[in-house]
Amino acid sequence: MPALCVMEGDGIGHEVIPAAVRVLRAVLPDLETVPAEAGWDCFLRHGASVPEETLQTIRDCGAGLFGAVASPSHKVEGYRSAIITMRQALGLHANVRPTRSLPLPGARSGVDLLVIRENTEGLYSGRERQEGEECAIAERVITRQASTRIARTAFDLARDGGREKVTIVHKANVLPLTDGLFRDSVRQVAADYPEIGDVNELLVDTAAMLLARDPQPFDVIVTTNLFGDILSDIATVWGGGMGLAPSLNLGDAIAVAEPVHGAAPDIAGQGIANPIATILSAALLLRHHWKQPHAANAVEQAVWAVLKKGIHTPDIATPSSQTVDTQGMTDAILAHIG
Ligand code: NAI
Ligand code: MG
Repeated sequence: MPALCVMEGDGIGHEVIPAAVRVLRAVLPDLETVPAEAGWDCFLRHGASVPEETLQTIRDCGAGLFGAVASPSHKVEGYRSAIITMRQALGLHANVRPTRSLPLPGARSGVDLLVIRENTEGLYSGRERQEGEECAIAERVITRQASTRIARTAFDLARDGGREKVTIVHKANVLPLTDGLFRDSVRQVAADYPEIGDVNELLVDTAAMLLARDPQPFDVIVTTNLFGDILSDIATVWGGGMGLAPSLNLGDAIAVAEPVHGAAPDIAGQGIANPIATILSAALLLRHHWKQPHAANAVEQAVWAVLKKGIHTPDIATPSSQTVDTQGMTDAILAHIG
């Protein structure tokens, strides 16, 4: 029986996570869910953004669904970002962020790309320190082991998804040691995948410019932690924005799905958050972790059909939309799953 650790987190996490769980139950009736705490409120209550108990629940279930965390942007003694804690403690080494054209007014068609981001090191390795009053330093860690691992994930997903092109994104001209090691590690892995005919590389600034201009030529992008964070947010624009962008954190035997968006304090509590990012994240769990492609397809097709009908939450609504709230959107998707 599939088991899922459900972490609403903060803000709109309390709204979009129950919506996605309803959808998961529709396609996986024997799903067992175990609620757990994580996030800023959790830190205020328990002194940890992800208590050990929550980590153990995710390990026991093998899968997690996480809403969002409202991280403060100043240093708070003892606080660490919940999602970064989870990624490092559970060895969730890859962040997979697909972007696809959706049937939305004015959307560009033909977009189907995958940003594969290294999740455990780089500039987010957590090695940040103050040197006196006037200087602060963050260390950017790149290892051959993590670079090789993320490359394998990227090429496996490319091959299994019938994709043809992998673009390595780095900044080895300015960071020849760290990004040179990353680039060379990925190149070495590429040699084991002759079926991926087109392996190219781009400097990150050029990649950002090209991706903002035209996403169509991109297929799979593999890159380090910070670059992947930024590039995947640029890519979300082509998929209809934050309310629609899903992601999956992959480890060896554990996966945690989470929408790309944050806690959205500006709309939290109003019941109008778009649940699609989280529902599509749940579909990634179905496809890549539980190996249930039919269920994943059913969810993705239902989302597609509802958007095509012009049923939209306020974040993507146009004058011709039928505007619904979180609940209404979830009901419409469930009606399509049948
Ligand atoms: P955000 O993603 O929370 O919101 C950005 C904008 O997108 C807001 O206008 C929001 O209303 C809108 N938005 C986001 N998700 C939406 C949805 N599902 N439906 C409709 N509209 C949606 O990013 P922001 O405002 O920069 O950060 C707010 C808080 O969230 C901060 O504390 C930040 O640290 C945290 N955050 C957490 C993330 C995570 O848990 N993975 C990721 C990004 C931010
Ligand atoms: Mg981000």
